[in-house]
Amino acid sequence: MSLLEIFAPIASDMNVVDALIRKRLHSDVVLIRQVAEYIIHSGGKRLRPALVLFTANALGYQGCRHHELAAVVEFIHTSTLLHDDVVDESDLRRGNKTANALFGNAASVLVGDFLYSRSFQMMVSVDNMRVLQVLADATNVIAEGEVLQLLNCHNADVTVDGYLQVIHCKTAKLFEAAARLGAILADASPEIEQAMADFGMHIGTAFQIIDDVLDYSADESETGKHLGDDLAEGKPTLPLIHTMQHGTPEQVARVRHAIENGGREDFPAVLEAIQATRALDFTRDYARVEADLALKALHPLPASIFKDALLELPDFAVARCF
Ligand code: IPE
Ligand code: IPE
Ligand code: MG
Ligand code: MG
Repeated sequence: MSLLEIFAPIASDMNVVDALIRKRLHSDVVLIRQVAEYIIHSGGKRLRPALVLFTANALGYQGCRHHELAAVVEFIHTSTLLHDDVVDESDLRRGNKTANALFGNAASVLVGDFLYSRSFQMMVSVDNMRVLQVLADATNVIAEGEVLQLLNCHNADVTVDGYLQVIHCKTAKLFEAAARLGAILADASPEIEQAMADFGMHIGTAFQIIDDVLDYSADESETGKHLGDDLAEGKPTLPLIHTMQHGTPEQVARVRHAIENGGREDFPAVLEAIQATRALDFTRDYARVEADLALKALHPLPASIFKDALLELPDFAVARCF
């Protein structure tokens, strides 16, 4: 199923969210409008806001605060992308030049801060202490994840557990928060709220694991991002960890050298080692396990068209090529 088909039950909600995003981007400072509108209107799958909308609707929420919170999680996501592309020195995102490539690192970091702090103004307006708690915790954990990842760069001895800790924090935590927020708005029981949070954590983990596969195997015209960015930064992601666990001494040495030194020269040799050890199949299987756990977490939800759509999302996360 395509994302457009999966999102059909929330299409009108998502239109409201898009209009709200446009409105909340406003600033009198022209550069802020330029950079923020550039990135936010450049596309993006809108997966995290979709989780807020789906879980709120699936649990019978009737108000309109889910629109504000959907926009909040997209703003938080966008601000992390602005910062991430500076840190990763990436120059392509969503098929266009990154904001840092176009406007410079300083503008990207500062407009990222603007979006981030605007998201806090918006979440306060929802006037719900649990919502604030969840988002304050999530943003703090995301920042920890980014710093942990920085510490892991160029370290070829990072374990699978060390890798998982980073992706739980930097990526899955925001998916978890998004799914939990829908449950909180709908006044769901603690058990249901936890089930939605588990769904978000598992699908977010699967999503990042596949993102790390795509960095070695994607069609750049589909992802809109450059292949090999992770290797260039010396990031020890799951495909590389598997290759080092199962490769010949020569393959292991190649991967270790690439992680420790970064850059793009080693990419062809590393790709060969990845293929020889079938590391991408292993990594996809790992994501599949997380996707199945996400599906299982949906069991307690009552039947609805929104639940049906949520049931499609884990497969999308694993099978996606963008
Ligand atoms: C990119 O997220 C960053 C990761 C956590 C892998 P998305 O792939 O959801 O980015 P957009 O918003 O669709 O561009
Ligand atoms: C996701 O990691 C970063 C965030 C959670 C912001 P990546 O560095 O792999 O994301 P992409 O590949 O640049 O989108
Ligand atoms: Mg990046
Ligand atoms: Mg990536």
